[in-house]
This record gives sequence, structure tokens and C-alpha cells, in this order.
Amino acid sequence: MELKPLGNTDVMVPEIGLGTWSYNGGVAPLKRGIELGATLIDTAEGYYTEDIVGKAIKGIRDRVFIATKVSGRHLDYDGVLRAAEGSLMQLETDYIDLYLIHWPNPHFPIKDTMRALEKLADNGVMKYIGVSNFSVEEMMEAQSYLRNYQIVSNQVLYNLNSREIEYDLLPYCQENKITIMAYTPLDNGNLASGSHFLKRRKLNVLDEIAKETKKTMAQVALNWCTSHSYVIAIPKSDNVKRTTENCQASGWRLSKEQINRLNEAF
Ligand SMILES: NC(=O)c1ccc[n+]([C@@H]2O[C@H](COP(=O)([O-])OP(=O)(O)OC[C@H]3O[C@@H](n4cnc5c(N)ncnc54)[C@H](OP(=O)(O)O)[C@@H]3O)[C@@H](O)[C@H]2O)c1
Repeated sequence: MELKPLGNTDVMVPEIGLGTWSYNGGVAPLKRGIELGATLIDTAEGYYTEDIVGKAIKGIRDRVFIATKVSGRHLDYDGVLRAAEGSLMQLETDYIDLYLIHWPNPHFPIKDTMRALEKLADNGVMKYIGVSNFSVEEMMEAQSYLRNYQIVSNQVLYNLNSREIEYDLLPYCQENKITIMAYTPLDNGNLASGSHFLKRRKLNVLDEIAKETKKTMAQVALNWCTSHSYVIAIPKSDNVKRTTENCQASGWRLSKEQINRLNEAF
């Protein structure tokens, strides 16, 4: 498994992590992923999967990197502190590696949210601060309220079919050494299974490159994501075989020419 730096820190994280939204696979797929080096697990208070993540990492807490999120509904100062306590209990751990704001919510002053996150970091409840679904402007504003910490990651939608972040967010994060955690990197499975939702031309190119590289379409789609600097991907699978397949999207690279062909087709 290839590693990438987490933001501007010395910490290295795997370029393929394990998503758990709508996850129903029990502990086996997560344990298999960890064995294969996908030691970053993504969850959230709103996913109701922190408890199964806690079970999967029992006895190996120090080998895994847990990212979890405070809901956009709990962004008042006390709400953030309470949500973090709840996540620690569900995860059965005494610290969170990366704590993200799940989505921005103008209903709550971001200054208070960032102060609460800073307090949690000061107290060792979590190690690193991140955001999710934030625009460049929202990231800059959030960062302006942090005195002693840097936002190390923004978790956003990114896959071959959804490339909006390439306009400004991706270049901004690359320039400022902020890790993009690409969510829904398989476009909910559409990029993995030859879905009829995919236009024929896109499907043909994906299939062609899968054959050339002797990889699967899912692996090509994930490798395309992680071929970008500062981008890691967090596919979700309930299944041990597909988790294994997704982890094996790392350790090799699409050629520049193959990446160009995908960029043109999508
Ligand atoms: N921050 C946010 O707002 C946000 C939003 C959405 C997602 N996320 C995070 O990102 C993670 C991934 O995104 P996602 O779950 O939306 O979508 P995804 O990972 O793009 O796709 C998951 C779907 O693809 C299927 N799949 C996975 N691997 C496959 C493979 N190798 N071949 C064929 N099908 C495969 C899964 O089915 P099986 O399970 O049956 O294998 C599932 O139906 C989430 O779990 C969550 O952790 C964050």
C-alpha cells in the first residue's frame, strides 16, 4: 500500500482507506482491509458505524488511523465537545486521529466550532483537525479561527464522474499541502461494475485500460483518484473480496497516457 503525507504533517496515511457510510459488512471486511494496509478508516457520528469500527480495531488501535466527523447539526461549541465524547464512546477509544466537520452550516458561527475543535486538540481528544464538503472560501475562514493548528484535510466528492474540485479546491489543497479525502470514489459502484449509468464511451475507455493494466475497472477508477498528489480515496465495501480488490488499487500506477485518456473520456 502506497502512503501519502497527511496534510503538512509528518504522519503518513494509506492512499486507500475504508469508507463506512451505509456499511453493513461486520468486522471481517474492515479487518481484511487493515491487514492489506488500508489502515485509515472513515466514519462519522451520523453513520452509526462507529461501534462496528470500534469492534474491528479492538486490540490494534495503535495500528489504525481513525477519521470521524461531527455532524453539521452539532457545530455549536458545546455540541462539538459532546459529539466528540459520543464518538469516543462508540469507537471505544480514548482519542480520534482526525476529526472532521461533516458539512458547513451557516446556522452556527464557524468561530465557535473551530474554538471547540482547538480545545479538543489541546486536550488530546483528537490529533488532527479536518473539514468535509468545504469550499476554498469556507476552508480559509475556518483556518483563520485556528491559532495553533492547521486544517490537514478536506473530505469531498471526487471520482471520474465528479471532477468539480479540479477548478479550484484541488489546486488550492495541493498548493497548501492539505489532503483531499476523495469520497464516493467509485461513484457508488457505477465506475466498478460497467453500470448502465455510464455512457458507452466512458465505459469503453475504462474497460480498455482495465484490460491493458490487468486490473479491474474499480481499481482503475481508484488509481485515477490517487494519481493526483495529496489525494487519497476511501471506497466502501461490505464484502471481503471487493475490499481486497479495492486495496489492490494501490502499489502500481496508471501511465500518464492512460490518465489523459480517462480525463478526455470523462
Ligand atoms: N463526507 C461526506 O459527506 C461523505 C459523503 C459520502 C461518502 N463519504 C465517505 O466515503 C465513503 C465511500 O463513498 P460511498 O460509500 O458513498 O461510495 P463508493 O465507495 O463510491 O461506492 C460504494 C458502493 O460501491 C460498491 N463497491 C465497492 N467496491 C466495489 C468493487 N470493487 N466492485 C463493485 N462494487 C463495489 C459497494 O457495494 P458493496 O458494499 O456491496 O461492495 C457500494 O454499493 C463512504 O462510505 C463514507 O465513508 C463521505
